Amino acid sequence: MIYLDSNATTRVHPDVLEAMLPYLTDQCYNPSSGYRAGKAVKKALEQAREQVAQLIGAEADEIVFTGCGTESNNAALYSLAEAVGKGKRIITSQIEHSSILRTCEVLEKRGYTIERVAVGADGRLDLAAWKEAVEQEDAGFATLMWANNETGVIQPVLEAAAMARAAGVPFHSDAIQAVGKCPVDVRAVEADFLSISGHKFHAPKGVGALYIRKNVSFEPLLFGGGQESGRRSGTENVASIVGLGKAAEMMRVRLEADGHAGVGALRDHFEQRLLAEVHGVQVNGSQEFRTKNTSHLAFEDCEAAGLLILLDEYGMACSAGSACMTGKQKPSHVQTAMGIPAKQAKSSLRISFSILTTREETDAAVEMVKKAVRKLRAVQGIGGVGPVTVYT
Ligand SMILES: Cc1ncc(COP(=O)(O)O)c(C=O)c1O
Repeated sequence: MIYLDSNATTRVHPDVLEAMLPYLTDQCYNPSSGYRAGKAVKKALEQAREQVAQLIGAEADEIVFTGCGTESNNAALYSLAEAVGKGKRIITSQIEHSSILRTCEVLEKRGYTIERVAVGADGRLDLAAWKEAVEQEDAGFATLMWANNETGVIQPVLEAAAMARAAGVPFHSDAIQAVGKCPVDVRAVEADFLSISGHKFHAPKGVGALYIRKNVSFEPLLFGGGQESGRRSGTENVASIVGLGKAAEMMRVRLEADGHAGVGALRDHFEQRLLAEVHGVQVNGSQEFRTKNTSHLAFEDCEAAGLLILLDEYGMACSAGSACMTGKQKPSHVQTAMGIPAKQAKSSLRISFSILTTREETDAAVEMVKKAVRKLRAVQGIGGVGPVTVYT
C-alpha cells in the first residue's frame, strides 16, 4: 500500500526499532530500580531526554515523558488552568486539535471563559484579534498550535507568543505536527509549555513529551510513584521513550542538514504534477507557511468520500480532513474556520508524506489520484482529468 497519511501517524523507522529492541528484550529492568541493570536503563531514559531536548532547544530537565500527545496537551492545559484560577479567560484558536478543543470545553464547564480566535482564508491566525484577546483584563493563559494537522499551515507562533508574553499571559503550544518537520525552538518562542508526540515522526504510538520551562510551576495530571521528578507518575514506557529519543536525534540531524528538503521535494513534485495534469485542483491554505510534508488539495466536482474509497481500492491511503474526521460528511472545523465553501471542503484530501516515502510511490500516487478523479467525474458526466486548457 502507498501510505500518504503521515499526519495521522508514521511507520516506526528501522533505526528507531533497532534502538528500542534491547529494552523490549534483555534490558527489561525498571529504571527506578537501584541495582546496576536498573541504573543502565535509567541512563538510556536520560539519554532520550537529552535527545528530545536538543531537537527543540530545551534543557533535558525541562522534558517530561508522557503517554501521548493528547496527554501532553491535557496536562499543560489543566496545570495552567489550575495556576490561573477559575473565572479566567483561556485564549486559543478555532483550528486546534480536538485534544485542545475538548479540554477547553471541559474547562468552560468548570467556570473558565474560552476565546477561540479566528484564522484567515490562508489558515493562519488573525494576529490583531489574538493581541486584543491576550490583552484583556481577565486573560489567564494562551494556547496555540504550531502547525495544523489538516492543512499543515504553520501558525505565527513567535509573534503570538511574544504578544502573550508582553501581556503577562503564559503560553502553551501544541507543536505535535511541527516537531521533527520544521524548526521548533523553545528558547526563541519563549513558550512555557510545548507538546510533542512520537508517532508523528517515526517513533512508536503511545509516547509523547511535554516541555515545561524551568521555574514554571506545574500541577501533575497523574500522581503515584513520583517518576519524572514527580511530574508524571507511572513506570516509564522505556522502549518507546528510547525510540522517541532516537527519532528526535534522527530528525534533528536531517533538519539541520537540509531543512527536510527531501520530503518537501516529493510533496512539491506530487502537487505540481496534479496541478498540471488535472483541471480543477486547488491548494487549500497558505503555500508559503506550510510543513513540507503536507498537501491539502480540493478536487472540483469530486466528493472526497468517493475519492477515498477509490484510492483505498487502488492501494493508496490518505485522508479527508483530519484522520479523526474520516467518515463524517461535514466539512471539518478547520475548513469552516478558513471560510472554505462547503462544496470545496467536501472535495478536499489531505495527503501527507514522510521521510520513508519514495519518488516511485509519489508518481504512482499521482496516477491513482488521476484515475480516481477521472472515474468520479465520468460518473457525473463530466469526464476526464485534463489537460488544464481543455477543461477549464
Ligand atoms: C495537532 C495535534 N495535536 C494533538 C494530537 C494528538 O496526539 P496523540 O495522537 O499522540 O495523542 C495530534 C494527533 O493527531 C495532532 O495532530
